[in-house]
Amino acid sequence: EVMGEILGISEVARELERKLGVRQVVIVPGDSDETFWVQRDIGRAAVTQLKARLAPDDNIIAVTGGTTMASVAAMMSPDKKERPMHFVPARGGLGETLELQANTVCSRMADRAHADYHLLHIPDEVSQETFERMVEEPSIKNVLEMIRAARIVVHGIGEAETMAKRRHASPEHLRMIERHDAVAEAFGYYFNAEGEIVHRVKTVGIQLEELDDMDTVIAVAGGKSKAQAIAAYAKHTPNIILVTDEGAATELLTRY
Ligand code: G3H
Repeated sequence: EVMGEILGISEVARELERKLGVRQVVIVPGDSDETFWVQRDIGRAAVTQLKARLAPDDNIIAVTGGTTMASVAAMMSPDKKERPMHFVPARGGLGETLELQANTVCSRMADRAHADYHLLHIPDEVSQETFERMVEEPSIKNVLEMIRAARIVVHGIGEAETMAKRRHASPEHLRMIERHDAVAEAFGYYFNAEGEIVHRVKTVGIQLEELDDMDTVIAVAGGKSKAQAIAAYAKHTPNIILVTDEGAATELLTRY
């Protein structure tokens, strides 16, 4: 890649940190839009970042869903220092298919880390009344409290329209995203190019405002096609450690 030859990948990372104003940028070689295994490399790099930030005791780690997060789970391994990890889904369902749901990613990640986990069993679409009753159920309440206690979050970033379509958003929801020029999605929140929230999917778990108080927020997203989404999301949430690839990084430096 041209970028590697001129600047070197870590210099590009430093430059991108300045440009996006985020806490840290980690870049893996290649472009995950073009090469399948680059997403696995992003996954591996995210695991390294996560382990570098574990506390000696008690680490509750909240995770989201998606293909990139599934790659993080696939690359997870037990902690050599045996620091306890406990995985929970960051939020309730967002309409993903089973293998891309936060619950699935969470249980896989815990499995590969030889760690504990708790899942959130709330259907995506229930009436307000049922919803209110469910969040009072002791078993669900208990998990929601654990999510609230999480100090580390690992999550994906998607393109707004791609995500809305993949999750079978309603026609009104799609129109809303279009009308407000949403370009990015993370956590069920949609953002315009300025990083303003233009739509949020109502669900339980971590709300975006709460990310400000987290010790560690690791955002994982790569591929040239996600550059604009990453730029928009970083405007809203600059306290992230961004784990990305060369494809997205080059595009971010040259176009956004
Ligand atoms: O919220 C963002 C999406 O979960 C990203 O999904 O990793 O499959 O592109 P993806």
